[in-house]
Amino acid sequence: MPAKIIVVMSPKGGVGKTTTAVNIATAISNLNKKTLLVDANLETPHVAVYYGFVGFKYSLEDVLNERAKIEEAVYTGDNPNFHLLPSRVAKSGVERSSHKLINVNLYIKDLQDKYDFIIIDSKPSYEIEFIKLIKDANGLIISNPDITSIIEAKKLKEELDDAGISILGLVINKVNSRIKEQMTEKEIKDLTGIENLWKVREDNGVYNALRIGIPIVLSSPKSFAARDIMNIAKQIIRL
Ligand SMILES: Nc1ncnc2c1ncn2[C@@H]1O[C@H](COP(=O)(O)OP(=O)(O)OP(=O)(O)O)[C@@H](O)[C@H]1O
Ligand SMILES: [Mg+2]
Repeated sequence: MPAKIIVVMSPKGGVGKTTTAVNIATAISNLNKKTLLVDANLETPHVAVYYGFVGFKYSLEDVLNERAKIEEAVYTGDNPNFHLLPSRVAKSGVERSSHKLINVNLYIKDLQDKYDFIIIDSKPSYEIEFIKLIKDANGLIISNPDITSIIEAKKLKEELDDAGISILGLVINKVNSRIKEQMTEKEIKDLTGIENLWKVREDNGVYNALRIGIPIVLSSPKSFAARDIMNIAKQIIRL
């Protein structure tokens, strides 16, 4: 079966897209599924940082600009089920390369038979255009439990519905039960109309994982955030 393609999206920056993409991809690959994680956020590409991976030669930008073949820009580590296609874009190259993202579908299509899952971290503002380029892609929306974030998630859901793109679910990231003002699950479901809702708790371990360059599902698997994300990964595999 060709890989299930998941584009991790949010209409707002800084809500936890990359954290979620990195940890879900890592968790799914640890559940024995061949997984490719693609950093398609050319403006602020940080996926590799989450793995403490800095010394790579080629990136997605080199592939898009035909300076490298895709195989040369895909890296693997201790877990043979996990592959990473990182980005590292000099500021001057962002605009030129962003236009070339239009070709990304061709590369993804070629890779689909090699993986069970292809998970793509995207950048806010461009992502609707981006996901439309990728045939059979599913959107995974990330939001925080505050009203502005949820309103934007609802708008994104409507845009995806209009474009006929399937939505796997909505991840509410940075949930903190001590903050009573955060929106409840029911309020979020009622407002967005998204039934599949997953919570990831706010967890200082996420900062530590980033500091040491090891995703929290590996570095601190018993932490709240890691357990929540592992649970999402298991459910995504079953969808
Ligand atoms: N569950 C969590 N608990 C605590 N901190 C978190 C959690 N998720 C993410 N963070 C922190 O929030 C910040 C933003 O996360 P992240 O980079 O994943 O967001 P993003 O949506 O990818 O941002 P951008 O729009 O810049 O791509 C990071 O410092 C990250 O460590
Ligand atoms: Mg990001």
